[in-house]
Parts: sequence; structure tokens; C-alpha cells
Amino acid sequence: MDLRSEKPGTSHPQHSTRAPSRRRFGLPALWLALATLAGGVLLSAFEREPLEVFKRRRAELMESVRDGIVVLFGQTPPEDIDYLPFRQTNDFYYLTGSEEPNVALLLVPSSSEGGTGREIFFLPLRDPAEERWTGPKIGAGDPGISEVTGFAEVMPPGHLPAQMGEALKRWNKIYTLTSGGEGGGNSSFLSRLRQLAPFASIENVAPEIAKLRSVKSAGEIDLIRKSTEATIEAHFAAMQAVRPGVYEYEIAALMKYEYERRGCERSAYPPIVGSGFNSTVLHYDKNRRRMEAGDMLVLDVGGEYSGYATDITRTLPVSGRFTKRQREIYEIVLGAQRAAIAAARPGASLRRSGPNSLHRIALEYLNEEGKKRVGEPLGKYFIHGIGHHVGLAVHDPSERSATLQPGMVITIEPGVYIPDEGLGVRIEDMILITEDGNEVMTRRLPRDPDEIEKIMAGGKRRGNR
Ligand code: GLY
Ligand code: MN
Ligand code: MN
Repeated sequence: MDLRSEKPGTSHPQHSTRAPSRRRFGLPALWLALATLAGGVLLSAFEREPLEVFKRRRAELMESVRDGIVVLFGQTPPEDIDYLPFRQTNDFYYLTGSEEPNVALLLVPSSSEGGTGREIFFLPLRDPAEERWTGPKIGAGDPGISEVTGFAEVMPPGHLPAQMGEALKRWNKIYTLTSGGEGGGNSSFLSRLRQLAPFASIENVAPEIAKLRSVKSAGEIDLIRKSTEATIEAHFAAMQAVRPGVYEYEIAALMKYEYERRGCERSAYPPIVGSGFNSTVLHYDKNRRRMEAGDMLVLDVGGEYSGYATDITRTLPVSGRFTKRQREIYEIVLGAQRAAIAAARPGASLRRSGPNSLHRIALEYLNEEGKKRVGEPLGKYFIHGIGHHVGLAVHDPSERSATLQPGMVITIEPGVYIPDEGLGVRIEDMILITEDGNEVMTRRLPRDPDEIEKIMAGGKRRGNR
């Protein structure tokens, strides 16, 4: 399901609505000393892969982009609204590991044979008055800034036009993010680029970056495991707390608490806690209803850990026991998911059709087993895709036409939604594609209906709410 395009989240929440007056405040010497000591250190519990990993990604990008320069801009926080959360754009983070605002990147090929000639990171100078609000930051000009950022050349953003002009004496193509997507394609940046380089052609670099991002590094897989493990605990907690009379938002709050206390910075997408009719609404995220006995409940909830998302759905009976009808539909969806997971390996595809399509496998299962077991082919109620890539974004970019390869992380999430009965079922797991098949990263979280009933009963005995 396409639930969100990437939105900025936060890694450094800021607390003031008084931005315009901030420069009234003085700068005590102690703070200045602390800030100076902290200079060059990223003060964050954020787990970042080693800087060489980001450098290697830039080199790989320049292997595929040989006939022009690459210019990328990071996220720009809105001016004077400093209570809004800040989160780096994913493509920028992927290539630099930088969480700083207002940064830019220029990559220049060494020759059309491939290889990087120069790579320049544009980083604002430090502003001690600003740091009273934001905490210590890093800045171009800090001693040791090359070691801290992994870039031999670090300059303030004002140097970008001259450096670009220099590079364009040799190259007349600029690769950048030209359209929508992940924080790129901003039209004011594009028109600025056109002004700066009126004779250069401008091309979209998003497909090249997407290709790289779709195969995860060992470090990325490790971080996805962390968001997944924390979220599995949140789903266990929800299974024990769901019962008639509880509000959907109580479960959403409980789950957020459980993964955030395990280190997730935020939700990877707005939690979906949909009971009764809401279980049939794919993007339901209001979470305001009071759950009733006999409802189905779709819990599609996942946290983000050090920038990396997970995406997990379980469907529960609010009363703790599936009705006969609920169990029939649930078991058919589970069978469809198992069939698709069994076929998830290198060479399979997330497309809706074709010989290697996992979607087609699930759809055929829903139709055949539906006809056999409930007298109706159920494929018509499966109204979204079988899955998507997951990484820095919950819907990570990928090459649409590409087949699965080892190191890709995807979801497999068939669903059946019958609005007339207020009956929705979705089961969604995180799958790592391996050399010879796959690993279900979420296998620790039960899907079997008997096991789910058992966990729910355990929660009630302890009187959890
Ligand atoms: N939770 C978003 C999705 O399932 O695609
Ligand atoms: Mn999903
Ligand atoms: Mn989901």
C-alpha cells in the first residue's frame, strides 16, 4: 500500500515558538566552552554506519554517472518555525550520513571512464547563538571537519555556485533530483540550478540512487533488525492489551511507547489501528473508535530506528477469539501470504503480473482457496500491492522493473477487505531476500490464529489494559 510519501520527521526536536527573538540572548562563556569541546562530535544516540560506507556509496554512484556532475541538497527547515521536526532527506543521508540542515553535495567525475574526481560537502559555519537553541553542531571551518564528515573538502554553502561553475567548464550535464520523491525536485532549487548553469542539461539522478538503495548493506540490515525487533515487542504488547471497550488510540499509544522506549526515534508511518469497519480502510489512521466485541482489528504499526523503518501488520479478533467467518477469511489470507513468502527469492518480482510475480501467487491463492472454502473467489477484495521495499523510507525506492536480489528487504502483505461485513484482514511481514531464498525477519511474531488467541488470552488473565 502506498501510505505515505516520505515526510520529514525529527531527529532534533526543537522547542521554541520564539525564533525571531532568539538573538536577544547572550552567550555564557561556559556554554561556549562546552560547545567548542563538543565541536566535531555528533551528539546523538543515532547509530550511523561508518563514514567509509557512505563514501563507497558516492563512489558507486559516480561509477554509474560518468558524464556529468551530481548536485544534491539536503533538507531545509522552514524558516522561523523551529518547533517543526527536522529529518534529513533519505537520498542525502544515504550518500553522506549527514543529519545537518541546509547542506549540499557536489560530486565531480574524474573522467568518463568512471571514478570520482572531487567530492565537496557544503556545510554552514557554526553559529554560537543558534546553538543555544539547537545544541552544539558541526560547521565548515571546524578543526578536523574532514575526519568528522568523511569529505576531504568541506565548504560553506555560499561556495557552491563557484565550485559548480568550475566543474561545468569540463562537464555540461547536472544530475540532481528533478521530480517529487524524497525531498528533492524542489522547484526553487531547480530554478536556481538553471540560473547558475543555463547551458547545462539537467537530468534526474533518482533512479541511480534508488538502484543503490534497494540492496541493503550489512549495517542497514542491522538497523532494520533493530526497528523490527522493537516493533515486534510493541505488537506483543498490543495483543495482550486489546479487548472490547479499549479505544484504538490507546493501542496506538501503547505501541509507540513500546518501540520508542526501545530506541526508535519515531513511527515509520502513522500507526493504523483499525477496528470493525475501519479494518477495511487501508489508510485508516484516525484511531478514534472504541473497539467492540466481535470486531476484527488491523494493526499496521512500525517504528523507525536510526533512520530505518520497519512495517508490520497483524490482524486480531477484539474479543480474543476469531468467529468462524473471521477465522476462515484469516486463514485464507495467511495461506496466500505463506505461498508468496515461499516463492520470495532472487529472481521473483513485486509486480502485479508476470511469471515471477509474488502478487499473482497470492491472488491466485485467494481466488482458488476462497472458492473452495467460502464459496467465493476472494481476489477481488485484495486491492493493493503484495509488498514494497523497506529501508530509510517505509516505502523505499526501487527500480520498478527489477527482480528481487539478495540483500533486498521487502514486505509481503496480502489483505482481504470486505466493507459490507466490516471485515478486513491484512498480514504483513518483513522479508530479507537471501542467496537461496529469504529470511522472515518478523518470524518471532506469531501469525497462526491459535497462537494469537493464546497470547491474547494470556494478556487478559493478567488483566493488562
Ligand atoms: N504501513 C504501510 C504499508 O503497509 O505499506
Ligand atoms: Mn507495507
Ligand atoms: Mn504496513
